Amino acid sequence: MTKRYALVGTGSRAGMYIRALATTYRDSCSLVGLCDLNQTRMDWYNHWLRDEFNAPPCPTYHADQFDRMLAETHPDVVIVTTIDATHHLYITRAMDAGCDVITEKPMTVDAEKTQIIFDAIVRTGRSLRVAFNYRYAPAYTRLREVVMQGAIGRPLSVDFSWLLDTRHGADYFRRWHREKANSGGLMVHKSTHHFDLVNWWIDSYPEEVFAFGDLMFYGRQNAEARGEHYAYNRYTGHPEAANDPFALFLDQDPQLNGLYLQAEAEDGYLRDRNVFGEPITIEDTMAVTVRYRSGVILSYCLIAYSPWEGLRVAINGTRGRVELDVQESTGWLKAQPAGNDHDLSASKGAFKHAQIRVFPMFGVPYEVDIPESEGGHGGADPVLLEQLFSPTPPPDPFNRAASHIDGAASILTGICANRSLITHQAVRVRDLFDLPDKPAAKPASS
Ligand SMILES: NC(=O)c1ccc[n+]([C@@H]2O[C@H](COP(=O)([O-])OP(=O)(O)OC[C@H]3O[C@@H](n4cnc5c(N)ncnc54)[C@H](O)[C@@H]3O)[C@@H](O)[C@H]2O)c1
Repeated sequence: MTKRYALVGTGSRAGMYIRALATTYRDSCSLVGLCDLNQTRMDWYNHWLRDEFNAPPCPTYHADQFDRMLAETHPDVVIVTTIDATHHLYITRAMDAGCDVITEKPMTVDAEKTQIIFDAIVRTGRSLRVAFNYRYAPAYTRLREVVMQGAIGRPLSVDFSWLLDTRHGADYFRRWHREKANSGGLMVHKSTHHFDLVNWWIDSYPEEVFAFGDLMFYGRQNAEARGEHYAYNRYTGHPEAANDPFALFLDQDPQLNGLYLQAEAEDGYLRDRNVFGEPITIEDTMAVTVRYRSGVILSYCLIAYSPWEGLRVAINGTRGRVELDVQESTGWLKAQPAGNDHDLSASKGAFKHAQIRVFPMFGVPYEVDIPESEGGHGGADPVLLEQLFSPTPPPDPFNRAASHIDGAASILTGICANRSLITHQAVRVRDLFDLPDKPAAKPASS
């Protein structure tokens, strides 16, 4: 018998799930319903299913018919890929209708909505899986393994710097993410990945958070202070933007054209707003300090306008230090179009470079092999999909499946950081949310 899935939120991220259900997992899974505010986007996916996979169309439901979709199509699981601030609406309604849920990250954007989700889980007994794909990237899994094996002893501190480049980073300033009410800012929307990785690598949850953050590069004021002036609020249809390295032209890419440009008359969603326009209410430069329940101290920073994309992380322990360097992009030249960073290609995304080095205290440093990988997000997406959809997923000794508690732990650092930006004080997690204990840590000798 096949497991039945319905999906709400048919934007670009939905493509990964729809493709997997229509191809690799079609014998054990079936996609029974699509739901969105925008009929054009749902229709685009039905054409894609037909043209790419010779698959039948999927029934479509407008967002205000979500409950009707559940009643008519009887899904076992609902996949939530809407914009972040709406995840809780669909998670709770799906659970109240008796469905389990897979949600995209971030689980939600603030403490109140987190509580609404926890209440629904207690009320219904349904399960929520947060799709933290990065846990499944071979480089990040390997780092977890090194720490679990005790190579550095007990973790004491973490230095973590993540760089988003002028292509991918800029994309958050073109659309809904740029308003904090929609995304929680990059501190929640993006950093949820990074804080989740740290929580998982060191096997602990955050306790207290202090943050600085500001909009220092994107936005009208910053551009004008540098002497840059833009006459266009969006890029498509403005030939004067042709030499703007931040421009994204929706009419030059079939997927962007079909999913967004042709759909905008219905809901006014502009996918290509000028990153030096207004309003932008999120930060592009952030520095956060976190104390964990285990005592670990994290120093984290994120910028969204780097020439290259990737991360540098070091975990210092009682017996040594491990460093992970990852380069996801090598930098963009002005002549290259911004293009579509969220395309549906299944093969893009393997890291350009990744290296793990262990420095034992008083020992000889050594490099740790990282398995070859293919697929989106450093090879993470195909492994995640197998864990989600395979009827017989391989064993997972690294505990990569993320629960709602992990989902909450990863956003609470960003939620506390957002509060700290307002109060200029350190914020204790327990003052905002009653986060349960983490299950006992796996032994790592100290
Ligand atoms: N794990 C990852 O690496 C990854 C990558 C990309 C996106 N995402 C997540 O996926 C989600 C979607 O992102 P995206 O890039 O596809 O965005 P998108 O803008 O392309 O798509 C969002 C879709 O949600 C729909 N929507 C908005 N409000 C709605 C509502 N109230 N009811 C129903 N539908 C609504 C929009 O019409 C749109 O079709 C986000 O939560 C994002 O964080 C995760």
